[in-house]
Amino acid sequence: MKLAVSGKGGVGKSTIAGTLARLYAADSCRVLAIDADPDANLASAVGVPPELRRGIRTIAGERRLIEERTGARVREFGQMFKLNPEVADIAERYAVRYAGVDLLVLGAVPRAAGGCACPESVLLKSLVLHLVLKRGEVVILDMEAGIEHLGRGTAAGVDLMAVVVEPGRRSLETAHRIREMAAALGIRRFGVVLNKSTSPAEDGEWVSAEFGADSLLGVIPFDSRIARADRLGSSIPELGQQDLLAPFRELLVNLDSRIKEKTP
Ligand SMILES: Nc1ncnc2c1ncn2[C@@H]1O[C@H](COP(=O)(O)OP(=O)(O)O)[C@@H](O)[C@H]1O
Ligand SMILES: [Mg+2]
Repeated sequence: MKLAVSGKGGVGKSTIAGTLARLYAADSCRVLAIDADPDANLASAVGVPPELRRGIRTIAGERRLIEERTGARVREFGQMFKLNPEVADIAERYAVRYAGVDLLVLGAVPRAAGGCACPESVLLKSLVLHLVLKRGEVVILDMEAGIEHLGRGTAAGVDLMAVVVEPGRRSLETAHRIREMAAALGIRRFGVVLNKSTSPAEDGEWVSAEFGADSLLGVIPFDSRIARADRLGSSIPELGQQDLLAPFRELLVNLDSRIKEKTP
């Protein structure tokens, strides 16, 4: 199954993507977590310890790899390069493994004015497309805020777009936009995760009224221990507090049943 997690900045995308990755791994699934946010911090949400984190190499930073696979020089525009570079071995070579989760960090690529492609972004797009289509496992994509950069190719293999919202109007507006874009890209399932809720019943109703009761995948309460885990550079599973994980487990169950449903 392939799950993309998106939403406005700071709503808790990485927290949720990282915790879900750990829970799927604990259920003996093969899990590949992909940090697709240039402002990468999925590693700490997965719980990867600092020593291991320091050794992570981002794909976008691997100049020789990019040049070798695309046949073009990085940071030079207007060149010819391969549009379908060979990417099959990259995840195996670059992913770090922690607590049963394979984590791959894509890194930031320079954005060309006018949106023209550069070798870095072509390689990353090919890589994500390959990973979402080929690997028979749980693939979780932690997305950049918004999904403007998510191309049709990348979206092709995504089973469900989960948008994280918080109890505020602004994150809902973003979620509406993401829903439209995801539908336009052909992603057939959409769901909302309400995070940082201080009154789950009331907030849940509010989100259901906005997106339809079927769209609400889960409600995660605001909890200062979650923020504290982040301050310590650690993850929720590392805290070892089962009550904190309960709403994430519920979310996982709902995700699984949503994925199994036939799409319209
Ligand atoms: N349910 C929650 N309760 C309290 N703090 C939370 C909760 N979810 C996330 N946070 C905190 O909010 C901040 C942003 O979360 P993060 O997952 O990095 O967001 P995003 O990836 O969407 O930018 C972090 O400090 C995180 O610990
Ligand atoms: Mg994030």
